Amino acid sequence: MSRSIPQYLPGKPLRFIDELQGDPIGMFMNMLEAHGDICEVKVGHLRGVFVFDPTAVERVLVTNYKNYKTKESRSYGPLQRFLGEGLVTSEGELHLRQRRMLQPAFHRERIAGFFGAMHRHAEQLVDQWRGPSHAGAFIDVSARVCEMTLAIIGETMFDADLRPEGARIAQAVRAVASRFHWTSTTLLPLAELWPTEKNLEARAAKRYLDEQVHALIARRRSRPPGDDLLGLLLQASEADQVSDAVMGDEVLSMVVAGHETTAVALGWILWLLATHPLVLEAVEAELEQVLGDRPITLEDTRALPVLTRTINEVLRLYPAVWALAREAAEPDELCGYPIAAGTRVFFSPFAVHRHPRHWENPEGFDPDRFLPERAAGRAKFAYFPFSGGQRKCIGDQFTMLELITVLATVLRAYRFELQEGYQAVPAPNVTLPMREGLPMRLLPRKHS
Ligand code: HEM
Repeated sequence: MSRSIPQYLPGKPLRFIDELQGDPIGMFMNMLEAHGDICEVKVGHLRGVFVFDPTAVERVLVTNYKNYKTKESRSYGPLQRFLGEGLVTSEGELHLRQRRMLQPAFHRERIAGFFGAMHRHAEQLVDQWRGPSHAGAFIDVSARVCEMTLAIIGETMFDADLRPEGARIAQAVRAVASRFHWTSTTLLPLAELWPTEKNLEARAAKRYLDEQVHALIARRRSRPPGDDLLGLLLQASEADQVSDAVMGDEVLSMVVAGHETTAVALGWILWLLATHPLVLEAVEAELEQVLGDRPITLEDTRALPVLTRTINEVLRLYPAVWALAREAAEPDELCGYPIAAGTRVFFSPFAVHRHPRHWENPEGFDPDRFLPERAAGRAKFAYFPFSGGQRKCIGDQFTMLELITVLATVLRAYRFELQEGYQAVPAPNVTLPMREGLPMRLLPRKHS
């Protein structure tokens, strides 16, 4: 006789819905604490298996990935209505073709070529913060870095200046993303189609984003294609390999996937450094030793192990994409339990990254856990901030280069001081921003 998967909160559907909508991260953590590697939930049409065991995650993402549909899964439905058939939400053959087509824009050498733009935008941010309106005042650092990461995506992927519309684009993405979270967790049927205020706001935001994307493409059509991501798309479009609609989806997907994620990560890094003076000291000492008084170069970005470990540790505690979902096409087995065809499988880097069997003192902020000698023997998928397998984040190297470049630049220029009494609370939607932003005061350092 086959074993049944342990049920989470059996007979308490209302409490489950409360947790799912009010505190989804707390819900994943409660599941991990109560059941360890796997549990199941059955409430109305919401039925899913939640896995926390790294080997099971590896099976879904890598060893048996063909059995796990990504974007056709019902959990990603609302996201697909937002991003259409871009790389993030396409499936099967179309996804493979798109990935092959866009991969050249993310080759190692091309990514290295983005260093100049990343550095320039970081320097511009440092200069902006030098203005009189910022002297001594607390500012929402998270909003400013979000505009910067958007500007970086605009220049590197589309050779476009997105700064004039930056704040509005970032805000529109946030409006749609937070709606996505609600519509994908509610029990109400066709929830996003109702003409509620928030739905209307999200629809207007989506319309605005589509207009921006189409204007961007139209402006570039009048110039030679180039070899950035939009150039590759335009070449494919001229060869009839990609429709205008999919090209728009592709651009929007890259704008969405490529800026809020890195901005969110920067916010958590600055907050954790401000609250962990010993780690900050170690990072500052490394920057002092490697850079002295000169600006960072591309070569330096590969020679900052303390900063790199610190970033890895922040992505462990606050992975910007904090939960993933798949749907089993055929029956399978996970953690020794049978998985029926059609089962939705959920897993959260946030929770797996805090699995007590795989991480000592999981809640502690300890970058040295990524020292090679301490990382040896750790299960491969105990740490997967960029997912893995066929659908691994295409922007992982881009992200690391951007985070190192920006942090080395801003940390050399300022000390970041938190507003007294401020508590950073995650407000999960597709990504993991902070609920109240990040109010900080910037104290210029000697290099600034
Ligand atoms: C801290 C930064 C980032 C994190 C934590 C992150 C995380 C992820 C994760 C977990 C996935 C897989 C989603 C799934 O399996 O369902 C993903 C996919 C993706 N990411 Fe990222 N990402 C980051 C930055 C970026 C950047 C900077 C770009 C673009 C420049 C980007 C572009 C993409 C794209 C296009 C996909 C879809 C790939 C596919 O399905 O083939 N991401 N990302």
